[in-house]
Amino acid sequence: MAVSIASGLDHPLLLVLLADGRLRSGEWLAGELKVSRAAVWKGVERLRALGLGVEALPRRGYRLSDPVELLDARRIGAELDPRRAGQLRKLELLFEVDSTNSRLLSNAPPPPGMADVCMSELQHAGRGRRGRRWVAPFGSGVAMSLAWTFADTARALPALSLGVGVAVSRALVRAGALGVSLKWPNDIWFRDRKVGGVLIELRAEAGGPAHVVIGVGINVTLPEAARREIEAAGAPAAAVADACAQPPSRNQVAGAILDELLSMLGEFEREGFAAFRDAWLALDALRGRPARVLLDREVISGTACGVDQEGALLLDTGQQVRKFVSGEASLRVNEGEP
Ligand code: BTN
Repeated sequence: MAVSIASGLDHPLLLVLLADGRLRSGEWLAGELKVSRAAVWKGVERLRALGLGVEALPRRGYRLSDPVELLDARRIGAELDPRRAGQLRKLELLFEVDSTNSRLLSNAPPPPGMADVCMSELQHAGRGRRGRRWVAPFGSGVAMSLAWTFADTARALPALSLGVGVAVSRALVRAGALGVSLKWPNDIWFRDRKVGGVLIELRAEAGGPAHVVIGVGINVTLPEAARREIEAAGAPAAAVADACAQPPSRNQVAGAILDELLSMLGEFEREGFAAFRDAWLALDALRGRPARVLLDREVISGTACGVDQEGALLLDTGQQVRKFVSGEASLRVNEGEP
């Protein structure tokens, strides 16, 4: 099938004009947008309400405190291998949305072998695992969901989330990041801090095909205020930029993740997690380290020792090696560990 990238991105034009961080006079902006200067001011207020820092310099004009690289279908598409681009039924780039996962879950699933993808500059109700919120300031990260139809539900879960972690790590290396690792089942880490996470949701009928939505949230950069907000909720945070020698490109990160996800999905459907286990083990942040597994009513301590063929976590308690499947257990690195 032909490459089909349909962008529905509706950036307010004012933001496009200010995105590079250069100072623009109110008069020039009004002329470009063919509106009054009062309307420019209203637009500035709206951008501020979305969390963007817009400086107003008296008699000189407006500029963004931090330039923003807006999502761009052409630059994202440039990261796709032509075979993978042909698997893309729809690529939707949004200015704002409640949650990209919710949006795709409410749509009809794509046909087998094809993907529908949604990315947004801002999510008002980004969802994380275990009912948590996913917080990312406007234009700072990648919020992406990919809808896929699996013929066989049993094959799809639960190890799929580990395959997604491998795909995302490979994409971050492509974008210039060094030292990215994975914390079971699928948190993306850099130096024991969370750079990103994965939320997989599905609608399936027993024995029938599964409509799976894979949500990936990545901090590409992390403004200080957002870092503090995330860390106040208990999770040390990092950004892809922390792992890169040069500032990473958001579009490259987004395109590379999409390309690696599509590549992974094909292989996962044919071979399952077996094709990714070695790669996952090589990225495991906790292997050989003291850790705790939190269950509903119990905490089990031991040494993390990788995952089995099905992607279950293995924890050596000293008496035995216990197995935990994702969904039932949550893993913590032991604090104060040397
Ligand atoms: C986690 O808690 O670690 C998972 C975070 C997943 C966040 C992503 S952002 C894109 C997609 N849409 C959502 O509402 N959540 C996921």
